[in-house]
Amino acid sequence: MKLLVLNGPNLNLLGEREPGIYGAASLADIEAECQAFVSTFGSSVRFEQSNHEGGLVDALHGARHDTDGVVLNAGAYTHTSIALRDAISATRLPVIELHLSNTHAREEFRHTSMIAAVVVGIIQGFGADGYPLALRALHQHLSKK
Ligand code: DQA
Repeated sequence: MKLLVLNGPNLNLLGEREPGIYGAASLADIEAECQAFVSTFGSSVRFEQSNHEGGLVDALHGARHDTDGVVLNAGAYTHTSIALRDAISATRLPVIELHLSNTHAREEFRHTSMIAAVVVGIIQGFGADGYPLALRALHQHLSKK
């Protein structure tokens, strides 16, 4: 299976960004772990990151013909972006919503997800471990289809 991990704004700064909330692992560390992890079940994964809402929409559009499923940490756009929600619906890609932190234990404005209703499921609160957990969940979901 060909999987995509798509990260939104400020996630390129993982490791240096608010490590008390997001942990010490960089995005490159997480990617290396995920590459090794998916190879154990014969899948491939590529990582993309954009700080721009339209860049994330473009990445979903670009994935629609050659990618089986997506793990999406949309960062703050999770809470605001109708465009991202529409892109998930339009591409009909199976998407797992992911957050390092438990957004429900944080500020009220993080309690709403614009994309939650159009994703397969949500994994949050497990820090960087959430990435391989989400890839496993996505693989299981796709295997049942
Ligand atoms: C986040 C949670 C969002 O509320 C925040 O804006 C982020 C990261 C997380 O992974 O915990 O940028 O998606």
